[in-house]
Amino acid sequence: MSIKFIEEHKVFKLDARDTSYIIAIVDEERFLGHVYFGKKIIDNNINHLLRLEEPPYVPSKNNRDRVSFYDSFPTEYSTHGIGDFRESCLRVKDKNGHTACRLQYSSHKIYKGKKSLKGLPSTFGDDNSCTSLEITCLDNDLNLEVVLLYSVFEELDVITRSVRIKNCSKDEVFLTKVLSTCIDFDGINYDMISLHGSWARERHISRKKISYGKHSVSTIRGESSHQDNPFIALLDNSATDESGNVYGFNFVYSGNFFTQVEGCQFDTTRVVMGINPEDFSWKLKENEEFVAPEVVMVYSDKGIGKMTRTFHDLYRNHLIRGQFKDKKRPILINNWEATYFDFNTEKLLSIAKEASELGIEMLVMDDGWFGKRNSDNSSLGDWVVNTEKIEGGLKNLVDEVNNLGMEFGIWIEPEMISPNSDLYREHPDWCIHIEGRTPALCREQYVLDLSRKEIVDYIYESIKKVLSSANITYVKWDMNRQLTDLGSIVIPSEQHGEIFHRYVLSVYDMMNRLTTDFPYILLENCSGGGARFDPGMLYYSPQIWCSDDTDAIERLKIQEGTSMVYPLSAIGAHVSDCPNHTVGRTTPFETRGYVALAGTFGYELDVTKIPEEDRKMIPDQIAMYHKFNDLVRTGDYYRIENFSKNNSFDCWAVVSKDKSEVLVTCIQVLGRPNHHSRRIKLKGLLESKMYVNEETNEVLSGGALMYSGINVSLYGDYSGKLIYFKLA
Ligand code: GLA
Repeated sequence: MSIKFIEEHKVFKLDARDTSYIIAIVDEERFLGHVYFGKKIIDNNINHLLRLEEPPYVPSKNNRDRVSFYDSFPTEYSTHGIGDFRESCLRVKDKNGHTACRLQYSSHKIYKGKKSLKGLPSTFGDDNSCTSLEITCLDNDLNLEVVLLYSVFEELDVITRSVRIKNCSKDEVFLTKVLSTCIDFDGINYDMISLHGSWARERHISRKKISYGKHSVSTIRGESSHQDNPFIALLDNSATDESGNVYGFNFVYSGNFFTQVEGCQFDTTRVVMGINPEDFSWKLKENEEFVAPEVVMVYSDKGIGKMTRTFHDLYRNHLIRGQFKDKKRPILINNWEATYFDFNTEKLLSIAKEASELGIEMLVMDDGWFGKRNSDNSSLGDWVVNTEKIEGGLKNLVDEVNNLGMEFGIWIEPEMISPNSDLYREHPDWCIHIEGRTPALCREQYVLDLSRKEIVDYIYESIKKVLSSANITYVKWDMNRQLTDLGSIVIPSEQHGEIFHRYVLSVYDMMNRLTTDFPYILLENCSGGGARFDPGMLYYSPQIWCSDDTDAIERLKIQEGTSMVYPLSAIGAHVSDCPNHTVGRTTPFETRGYVALAGTFGYELDVTKIPEEDRKMIPDQIAMYHKFNDLVRTGDYYRIENFSKNNSFDCWAVVSKDKSEVLVTCIQVLGRPNHHSRRIKLKGLLESKMYVNEETNEVLSGGALMYSGINVSLYGDYSGKLIYFKLA
């Protein structure tokens, strides 16, 4: 078993492949202490790390200064209001308005496998891959039961955590803060990585030194957001891609999150992560339970690169589900950048015809096919085909596309309502709003009040009708605004703090219905580009549109940041037309293909209108995708050069799991006058095996490729190159 309870020392020892995580029950009052998280060790007792024999001592020895104990003890799960003045994870409001909570160990169970979390996405594993631990703690004054949930993925360096809370008292209690993880690290000087961004420049890597004080990353936008991803890493100041201790934390949730690194007075560093407590509260009546979403914690003893590859393996094997989990995805062409709202059956068919001749496998009809939607100012909620544009109806169009040998996909935005829609005219109270106050528009639309089941049912049924009406095998689920003016006419005032979380639960419920009713549909999530690129969404859709910025050079930073955590198989990436619609940049068609290859790969252009020399390259690009996608989708990803650091040159590689193949992608962002070729050093190969360069037939050892390197010559700005080696 990879989780043991060592009775003698009152220790829980959780062992993953190269990782140990240790918890101890201490003192007569049975506090839960966090002893260690890091490189695997064999010892059963390292409780000296808790410093219980040093002042201020445990309460049984020094009850005179209990607060000093609470405020310095490395606790496993911090609670509010008793004396631990660092960030708390749990805060309540009882019937008298009191907010304090104090937990003591009560019991535990250890079992093989891993249970799912009710209503929430989470990683999964069977009896062979996972062991789980549930530690039940009690607040005897409140009659509150708090169960700390842990699972260890034995073959990966992964430990997951979440929390289940039950009100065992007859009185109602409000949970006003429930975070999912808390870890006190020894020491104060670390670096922190987060993924920061904006619309069209999502998830740029940000690394900074931290020390005393609080450093937080969060969102209150109602979705995981363009601006901040629910991920941080805490790492040694000296950690690189290949060396040093790195701890990655990723929240399996798609709504408001909060994560914080706090450098504390006694030179310890506390990391917490969970649902953002701002605008959050949850009422629990007698015997009701609340389940907090899961945090995935990855430890790497060999730098950021190993953390990345662990996340990729975990998500590919233990989060993403469905028939496309391990499968190559059809190459699609999406009409958004090709036509925007200006399309009809004829135009779509002309694109499909040309595309099918070039080898493209699926046509995706984006926004504008329903209601009276000819711009972004109307019709969301009216999920009925506009037969003025789609003459002959949807089935006819899909059949025609199928007749060309292509599959058909469709865009939807089910969470929204336009004020200019039949749905809004009929049900003006269906949007999230505060009675008496006009809610703020965003992209001329409101958000539906998904805390109301009748609204969820109505919208889901209207979408289901469309999806059942023709042979539709792909759905792009979009979400184009953030949540404001939180209010609902059905939620009592004392429960308004539940709206944000109820909204997310309803989105998950709708996605669950869709993937259950249509298991053959490939679902791609999207949110104004990449505002919902989070593990919660990956549980329902194996791929997510990464950004509305399709420029190959902008994508280098966006995709590098995204792939810090999320596998390349999940990154929606397309070749689009130039000058690029977002940044006005013109890049070579080949380079656009190389960058899209590091994702799902597809097209986002009018293939009937692009320059002939570009169109002629498409069959070769498609052959390139078919040749390399298995490797890109399933292999180990290595960052090699980063143009944000060196200002001009980007390079990454994917090595197959058996190390028999490696595909290297080089992009020269800026050409350099009067310079030699560049030297790159590969990673992750077998040093004593010989590899052959497919293009030049040159044979070099893995050691030579990794330690002495190869020279890459590129000419011109935005030029690119693939280099493919396999075992000789
Ligand atoms: C969002 C998406 C785009 C496109 C438009 C349609 O911005 O990210 O890809 O689907 O909506 O309105």
